[in-house]
Amino acid sequence: MLQSVYTPKEFKKIRAAGDIVARCFEFLTPHIRVGISTGDIDKMVAEFLREAGAKSSSLGYHGFPKHCCTSVNDVIVHGIPDDAAILKDGDIVNIDLTVEYKGYHADASRMFMVGNVAPGARKLVQVAQDAMNSAIAACGPGVPLSEIGRTIEAVVKPHGFSISRDFVGHGIGKTMHDEPQIYHFFEPAHNKIKMVPGMVFTIEPMINEGSEKCKIDPDGWTARTVDGKLSAQWEHTVGITEDGVLIFTEKMND
Ligand code: MF3
Ligand code: CO
Ligand code: CO
Repeated sequence: MLQSVYTPKEFKKIRAAGDIVARCFEFLTPHIRVGISTGDIDKMVAEFLREAGAKSSSLGYHGFPKHCCTSVNDVIVHGIPDDAAILKDGDIVNIDLTVEYKGYHADASRMFMVGNVAPGARKLVQVAQDAMNSAIAACGPGVPLSEIGRTIEAVVKPHGFSISRDFVGHGIGKTMHDEPQIYHFFEPAHNKIKMVPGMVFTIEPMINEGSEKCKIDPDGWTARTVDGKLSAQWEHTVGITEDGVLIFTEKMND
């Protein structure tokens, strides 16, 4: 079950991959504007990773055709970048980027708001971010994995939003996807699994305005809300230490 347990030396390597992810988001930020296509975003990601000496972990993964995922509005997860998909005023878009650098992977995603975004959509984006951050803050050695989902529910439910159940967080390190699965809703079976120092995994809640149910497009990847309402997601890769938790997918100080 606990395959993704790493040494302090390996933490440094995952951290280095995470730094590239964070810097790529920083590089993208001024470009995520009305009129750009999600295909353009992918090209910028590809160029950035090439210059950083890193690889996209997503490209070619079970045949995934692009370097990152771009999930716009009602797309929950795994949207495929497309030159014909132009961002428009009021859109919310998640960019999800997993990078391999010197044999180690780090995975993060974040929301971008395009032009003037309606208050309801802003709130969804904020609640999703709060849910991820609260769940990260709850992590530490000895804490049951089920605390992650419990914490996310506590943040999300008061707003009447739903939590996607079809996609999970995951162990990560030498591979992009490893055990354990990380549930974003309360799962009593995970009361028994305690976090231990060295564990590395993602927390990536997908929060929906309406129904939690999803449908997959004919492309086999793009997962949308069945009711066409908005969905928002944030993701970090984190590592458990002797006394707490580290976020790997933030920029390192120069
Ligand atoms: N980054 C995604 C995750 O959070 C995985 C993307 S795999 C892809 O697990 F093939 F869809 F890109
Ligand atoms: Co991801
Ligand atoms: Co992930």
